Amino acid sequence: MIAVVEENKIMEAIEKANILVEALPYIKNFRGKTFVIKYGGNAMVDDRLKHMVMEDIVLLKFVGINPVIIHGGGPEINDVLRKLGKKPQFVNGLRVTDRETMEVVEMVLTGKVNKEIVSYINRYGGKAIGLSGKDGGLVTAGKDLSNGDLGFVGYVKDVNTEVIQLLVREDYIPVIAPVAIGEDGETYNINADTVAGEIAGSLGAEKLIMLTDVEGIYKDYRDKGSLISSLDIKTALSYIEKGIIDGGMIPKVLCCINAIEKGVKKTHIIDGRMPHSMLLEIFTHRGIGTMVVR
Ligand SMILES: Nc1ncnc2c1ncn2[C@@H]1O[C@H](COP(=O)(O)OP(=O)(O)O)[C@@H](O)[C@H]1O
Ligand SMILES: [Mg+2]
Repeated sequence: MIAVVEENKIMEAIEKANILVEALPYIKNFRGKTFVIKYGGNAMVDDRLKHMVMEDIVLLKFVGINPVIIHGGGPEINDVLRKLGKKPQFVNGLRVTDRETMEVVEMVLTGKVNKEIVSYINRYGGKAIGLSGKDGGLVTAGKDLSNGDLGFVGYVKDVNTEVIQLLVREDYIPVIAPVAIGEDGETYNINADTVAGEIAGSLGAEKLIMLTDVEGIYKDYRDKGSLISSLDIKTALSYIEKGIIDGGMIPKVLCCINAIEKGVKKTHIIDGRMPHSMLLEIFTHRGIGTMVVR
């Protein structure tokens, strides 16, 4: 009886070792490559999950991949706005941002969410550094008028990746809040997806991974069986046109398209609420979520 239990334990351990070896070709292939990861707001649901995502990011770093993190913080921003008696408003997934809202956005993103991610990563043995688009002139914003005047909503006018490269060279993990300064000296709120796409493009990243609060893109949002595993640019644009892709998924898809056009090899929209979804996507044959392809 005892011998059987022992044998089972050994088999289990061998199974675990097998899983590690299965990752070998992926580790070989991705060593030294840059992965841009967009995390949160809506996928950053509970603390336990956040810790798991941070642990996975540290693991990526230690097997030789260079993760660069861009984060959102929608729900946290909404919480503070509501406390101030302001109602959050969105147009096509973009937050309507008056001056007071802009101050809240910057405080919450750079002060709270950014530092929380940094501290979690550091706790798991990574070396994270928090930045906003303002630091080192990383992102220059322009006023985004493509959806009408939404206030201090910016688009990415220019990216200067020098500070990222400096940090990555010394094995730091950059954690970037999507706030940037415009040539007019004003502070702009840029959708985190948009910033992630632009930075991935400028870095010539191997992968852009967007962790969100759905499994991926659905052909019919109400039918969870309609998850699309791979979507090309032309079809994606037609789905936006038809309203199949809507709300917060619009900037996500546009940013994947932008990244691909700038030379990023692979873009994925995956479920950030699923434990280790990133590791499944990167280190196993099992593709998950939706891949946006040329
Ligand atoms: N076709 C679609 N498939 C999946 N999600 C969609 C689709 N169209 C719109 N969405 C919406 O996009 C949301 C993800 O964007 P968003 O709320 O901005 O999340 P995040 O905080 O991760 O950026 C989903 O929760 C869903 O409500
Ligand atoms: Mg969003």
